[in-house]
Formats: sequence, structure tokens, C-alpha cells
Amino acid sequence: MVYTRLDDVLFRLDDLPAMPKARRILMTTPEHFSVEYVINPHMAGHVGQTNRSAARSQWQTLKDAYERLGLDVATVAGADGQPDMVFCANQTLPFVLPDGQKGVVLSNMHANERKGEVPHYARFFEGLGYAAHPLDAALGDFEGMGDALWHAGRRLLWGGYGFRTSLDAYERISALADAPVLALELRDPDFYHLDTCLSVLDDETALYYPGAFTADGVALLRAFWPRLVEAPADDARERFACNAHCPNGRHVLIHPGSRVTNARLREAGYEVVEIETGEYLKSGGSVFCMKVVYW
Ligand code: ARG
Repeated sequence: MVYTRLDDVLFRLDDLPAMPKARRILMTTPEHFSVEYVINPHMAGHVGQTNRSAARSQWQTLKDAYERLGLDVATVAGADGQPDMVFCANQTLPFVLPDGQKGVVLSNMHANERKGEVPHYARFFEGLGYAAHPLDAALGDFEGMGDALWHAGRRLLWGGYGFRTSLDAYERISALADAPVLALELRDPDFYHLDTCLSVLDDETALYYPGAFTADGVALLRAFWPRLVEAPADDARERFACNAHCPNGRHVLIHPGSRVTNARLREAGYEVVEIETGEYLKSGGSVFCMKVVYW
């Protein structure tokens, strides 16, 4: 089932079954990363402007940070001719069913330039025994964990739509992943993926930028998150604060300089770990976009 309005939702968070948390990380090596076309507003003016060695060291610093926190990081090699492949949140949505079977929804990338990225991840997950599910093109676009985020510890999916993902895709995704979808319309092109304006921190808490959502979306978020940490507009827009990632319920990996957001995160009990991602911001991505989590 897919819901866009709180009035239609007849369950509460506590009614939903628990779901194990994904703790494994996949990243894609950045040797072919660059800005070669403009498919989101952040890329404008940056074509040909990325620095390869800075990108490499920023990527390595992020990978090291995950490993220092004790997480396993697998890698898929980036492919020549796929400069956005390093943003490996976008090509798939991994899931685990109540009986323990693992699956992955394969994205229908919005931009033609990115469609060739998806088979690399289908192969990776099939190699681990995941069942891979392509989506019928008639359902429209879907960009994986750029737009579809698991509510930590619950069989509940948050689904962004409007720019890269079509609302029509979620009914099928809900059936495949066996979870209701609370669908949030995105209304500002700077926040073109849900992961640019919402970050799940733990079972109870999310970081968000309310200005990216409609009133219906904000109502759903307020009803289902016991605690919401709000990022101010400049942190969210200029430093991608809501593209932070909390891999363990305690440490928040975030691009440097979001002073207000960082103070609010610390006050809420999190440890802020600043990771420079300036090369990737030129392409409209930061920490969260550069990995996918799976079981
Ligand atoms: N240049 C990429 C694009 O526009 C950036 C993707 C960032 N990923 C994300 N999950 N927000 O598609």
C-alpha cells in the first residue's frame, strides 16, 4: 500500500513488524567520477571542474570512516563512461522479507546517461544470492535508495517522488518489499532525491529539511518520527546536511561546516563525524549518496 496523506493511514509505527537493520556497506570506486552533464541544479557550472585526486582521497576518507566504525565495506569498480556510478545509493533498493529472503529492486534511472549503471549492481547482488527485480518501464522512474529509505528497524518504507521517481512505481515496490510506503512529494529541484532532505538516524529519529516537502509530507513525517532534528536552509542546500548518514544509530557522517545542524545533532546525543565531500557536491551528492546499505 502507498499513502500520500496522513488521513488515509490507519496504522501507527508500533503496529508495524520489526525488521533487522542493514549493516553492510557497498561503495563504488571513484576513478571514473566526474561531472560531464547536468541532470540536477548542483551540477550546473561544474562540468569538467572536478579534481580526480581530491575525489579519490575524499572517497577513501569516507570508506576509512566506515571501517573505523567496524562496518564491512564492499566495493564495485566504477565503469568507464559512467561518471555518476560512484553514487551507488541510486541503482538499487535492497530489502529483506519476513522469511529472511533477500531481494533488490533494480532502478529505472531517470536520466539516459545513468541507465548503464544498473546492471553492475544487479550482478553484485545476484552474486550474494539476492533475487533481483527489474521494474516495468511503464511504472515510470525509480532511483533506489536515493528516493526510498527504510524506517530503521521497521517494515516501513519512505518514498520520495516528483523528480527522479514516479509515485506510480511505489505500489509495485511496496508489494515486492512487503512494506507499506509513506510517499513524500518533493517540490524543490535542489532537493531532487529524498536523501537530500531526509536522513534516517535511528528507530526514533530523522534529520530533515521541512522546506523540501509539501504540507502533506511534513504531516506524515511528524506523525511517524517521534523525534525530528531540523536542518536550516543553508546547511541543507549548500552543504547537503540532510545527506548525512548514521550507520549505527550513534555516529553521523556529514559534510563539514553545518554548524547549526551539527549542534542540534550533538544535543540529540549523536557524535558528529565531518567528512569532506566537496568534489561530490559539485555533482549534487554527498555522504549518503556514495554508498548503499544491505543485509
Ligand atoms: N549527479 C548525480 C545525479 O544527479 C548525483 C546523485 C546523487 N545521489 C543521491 N542519492 N542524491 O544523479
